[in-house]
Amino acid sequence: MEVVIEPDADAVGKRAASAVVNLLARKPNAVLGLATGSSPLPVYKELIRQVERGQLSFGGVRCFLLDEYVGLSSDHPDSYLSFIRREFARPVGLAPEQVHGLDGSATDLLAEPDRYERAIRDAGGIDLQILGIGSDGHIGFNEPISSLGSRTRLKTLTRSSRADNARFFGGDVDAVPRHVLTQGIGTILEARHVVLVAMGQSKARPVRKMIEEPVAAMFPASALQFHPHVSVVLDELAAKGLANASYYRETFANKPDYQAL
Ligand code: GLP
Repeated sequence: MEVVIEPDADAVGKRAASAVVNLLARKPNAVLGLATGSSPLPVYKELIRQVERGQLSFGGVRCFLLDEYVGLSSDHPDSYLSFIRREFARPVGLAPEQVHGLDGSATDLLAEPDRYERAIRDAGGIDLQILGIGSDGHIGFNEPISSLGSRTRLKTLTRSSRADNARFFGGDVDAVPRHVLTQGIGTILEARHVVLVAMGQSKARPVRKMIEEPVAAMFPASALQFHPHVSVVLDELAAKGLANASYYRETFANKPDYQAL
């Protein structure tokens, strides 16, 4: 794992965005994995800025979302597809057919995950997966005790994840759907490069457990320790719990960009 500590959220966004920029320079038709939540927003903001300045194009790119709520149609304002369209896809000029999501309103919710896995495979796999981390250590919506080899599937959310996401539903935890479709941990581990971003004090504990504690199904993000190419980009607050922060600063802070990561 490469652990890069930046002063603030803006700098985290710029650093993580540079991984996408470098990828697109090498491979303009790359396949990106997109996450929702607040953490990736500074990354998307920086990418949007570069597109607006004419420095970057997503013309050849295809994107796959990580997860989706069950029971919300894709045009529901709180669906993850709507979120990604609003916060990233439209502003960078991605056409609807370039952005793929799990269909949370599919009539056959047990067949939908297989369809999605096939679509990812047919696209050649995900080159770069952007990730956040949940306070209970989930990635995507792989809650504690998810199999570390799991594939895309239907999951039930924990009360704590529903509470974390209630802010997107007017603060009402009961309005947050109980079920989701999510890429599995095994699916996420197949992405060629994983860039996980975390900011703020509330992420200090999950970040420490992910990086410095043993791999455990009780803490799904720790499975990223098995991945050969993970870049974790943190602000100072999210890095606060790390025992080896000075080592990470020495090793990774002065890399000129993400070319090598
Ligand atoms: C949700 C998403 C995750 C995300 C997590 C953290 O649970 N399914 O993909 O990483 O929230 O969100 P935030 O970045 O808002 O803290």
